[in-house]
Amino acid sequence: MKNYKSIYLLTLISLLILLSACSDSTPTTGDTSEKTSEEKVQDNPNPTKEDEQNAENPKAKEGFVLPTEDLQKGDQNDNVIGLQEALIKIGYEIPTTGTYDKETVWAITDLQIQSEDLMITGKYDEATRLVIEDYQDQESTVTSGEGLAYSEDKPLDEETVELSNPFEVLALINKQHALPADYVPADLVFPDVPFPFVEDLPKKQIRQVAADALEELFAAAEQEGLDLYAQSGFRSFETQEYLFASYVSNHGEEEANKFSARPGESEHQSGLAMDVTSPQVNFDLVIEFGDTKEGKWLKDHAAEYGFIIRYPKGKEDITGYQYEPWHIRYVGVKTASEIMERDITLEEYLEELQS
Ligand code: DAL
Ligand code: ZN
Repeated sequence: MKNYKSIYLLTLISLLILLSACSDSTPTTGDTSEKTSEEKVQDNPNPTKEDEQNAENPKAKEGFVLPTEDLQKGDQNDNVIGLQEALIKIGYEIPTTGTYDKETVWAITDLQIQSEDLMITGKYDEATRLVIEDYQDQESTVTSGEGLAYSEDKPLDEETVELSNPFEVLALINKQHALPADYVPADLVFPDVPFPFVEDLPKKQIRQVAADALEELFAAAEQEGLDLYAQSGFRSFETQEYLFASYVSNHGEEEANKFSARPGESEHQSGLAMDVTSPQVNFDLVIEFGDTKEGKWLKDHAAEYGFIIRYPKGKEDITGYQYEPWHIRYVGVKTASEIMERDITLEEYLEELQS
């Protein structure tokens, strides 16, 4: 009987020891070596998205974590530092400022030009991340500047510079910022949207990234029962030269300057703009289009697809052009939403990023 009692006691003590060991939150592996980043995350009561990313990504240990969220000109955060460090590792001599600045836009654009499958936007997206990861995995480097050599904007005259990066989707093109005369976007396509004419004229074209968004915009308009038509997209420097000269001879230079861009200064050369219209205004590009149901819907919904009304009413002094309710410019959803919600222009938006 005495024996049974001591066995019972011993079992009870062992059970208690076992229970206390299980409830202990310290690792029980017996491994006292440095914790892996995954264990660190598990220990962390409030892991952030970045912590989780570090745990999953062994490259975090090497100090260059590639962000998984999209980034673009003007963004300022630790993710931008991660991106800049990764770009430096693969061969770009850029500063780690934590701001998605001109140098970062250039490096991303250069990389995108060199990688055949990427859309050239100057913005950091998932497809671009995968390409950078490939360079990291293969421990290879980019020939920096092979797609686009880095340079400052070049002064053309007292008030105008020529853009050193005409490829980026957030390029400012206006009377002060011109595209190089020989710039023709490499990725022009014919968007699948209605035009009021059937011939495949060059002006039906627009850049791939903008074409995808334009098709979605037009599909949404059709769903609403609207009769939206595209009228004029890409124009070469030479076409703009011819157009501007004919406006000058018909209306005089001062008048022409209010509604037509000088060659090099038209967004139509960038392949990111499209003039749109409707049967109600005879497919013309006229101010009355803004009062049609198509024009009103466009103003309210263009931003959802990444477009802005580029020359709004009341902003003539900033844009340099009269009100054009028909001219839409692709900038991407994030920027377009901010511009349209705040009722500002691309000039004002980009100016704020720099200050
Ligand atoms: N009508 C616009 C300003 C252009 O000519 O590009
Ligand atoms: Zn236009």
